[in-house]
Amino acid sequence: VVIHNDRELEWAGYSTRVVVGSGVLPQLSACCRDVGGFSRALVVTDAQLAESYAAPVVTALESHGMPAGLAVVPPGDASKSLDQASRLYNHLAKLGVGRDGVVVGVGGGMVTDLAGFVGATWMRGVTTALCPTSLEADIDASIGGKTGVNHSAGKNLIGAFHHPRVVVIDTDCLTTLPDRDLSAGLAESVKHAAISDEPFLAWHEAHAAEILEHDRPCLGELIDRNITIKAHIVARDEREEGGIRALLNFGHTIGHAIEAVCDYRLRHGESVALGMVAECRLASSLGILEPACTSRLSALLEKLHLPTRLHESLDLEAVSAYLRLDKKAVSGTPRFALLKGFGAPVVQSDVPAELIRKAVESILPR
Ligand code: GLY
Repeated sequence: VVIHNDRELEWAGYSTRVVVGSGVLPQLSACCRDVGGFSRALVVTDAQLAESYAAPVVTALESHGMPAGLAVVPPGDASKSLDQASRLYNHLAKLGVGRDGVVVGVGGGMVTDLAGFVGATWMRGVTTALCPTSLEADIDASIGGKTGVNHSAGKNLIGAFHHPRVVVIDTDCLTTLPDRDLSAGLAESVKHAAISDEPFLAWHEAHAAEILEHDRPCLGELIDRNITIKAHIVARDEREEGGIRALLNFGHTIGHAIEAVCDYRLRHGESVALGMVAECRLASSLGILEPACTSRLSALLEKLHLPTRLHESLDLEAVSAYLRLDKKAVSGTPRFALLKGFGAPVVQSDVPAELIRKAVESILPR
């Protein structure tokens, strides 16, 4: 076991203990004991991870005197649903998990969002703990307290803010993560670097090869630096009211539209990579960003095996319609987190539709 970092993130009146390291997954139970212990635990995971990652967590909790049940949902985003949440409430009722219990999520973003939502709502909120197993969940989904499920009217429409008490991130889980999913997660890392930390952007450029080789110390550092950036932003605007947390949407306004219009055939991170390129071009057309920044960002994304141009054409009308209805739009006008430079983001909503269209066109196949 190698511990890379073990710290408490402080929120308004609450804190989250975050442990990053190699071989640390079973430490979840010791962390749960350290924060006071729980009478019962429900461990939520998906069918692909149950044996390898969730079962050892159940065993570890039981060895620390916390009786634990295991609930397995089918893999895939379709499980982020009220139906699956309802099944999990049945498990909690059957196990007798009360206010002194804990809901533990072991998995990627789907599992951490779903388990977090169930923990946020069961008995008006019980403690949650997360063991993210994908890079996207390590550096984004598990930090900052956003939980939720999808609805037929849209993704993440039902949810709650509820910070986990403990997050244990085992970099060993990334050794089995498919290369495409590792790269997809890296899009969020590039996003964090681009909006707040130019030296970290340069660090990605210098370490791309080790990152892509799943080098554990390198990934430990990458995860840790991402958590610092995200926690700093979230702590200043926990409920996305002050326009600061909205800066995390860089690449996501156009990215979400591409993801939806392509019928979710692209990974979220791939859509975000395309969205970041398009939104940089948008910022340049508004005269706020040097075009050289777009070239530097695109080159880095390509180095990390992320797309900077679509392989299929896109229904531009459907993209415009999606942008008008986006849940972050203000009276039908999309809101963007744009760059004025690396480390200098700004939220902007009065962007001419024609410029948005041109920016999206710029990532269409040649
Ligand atoms: N994923 C963006 C946020 O947590 O606010």
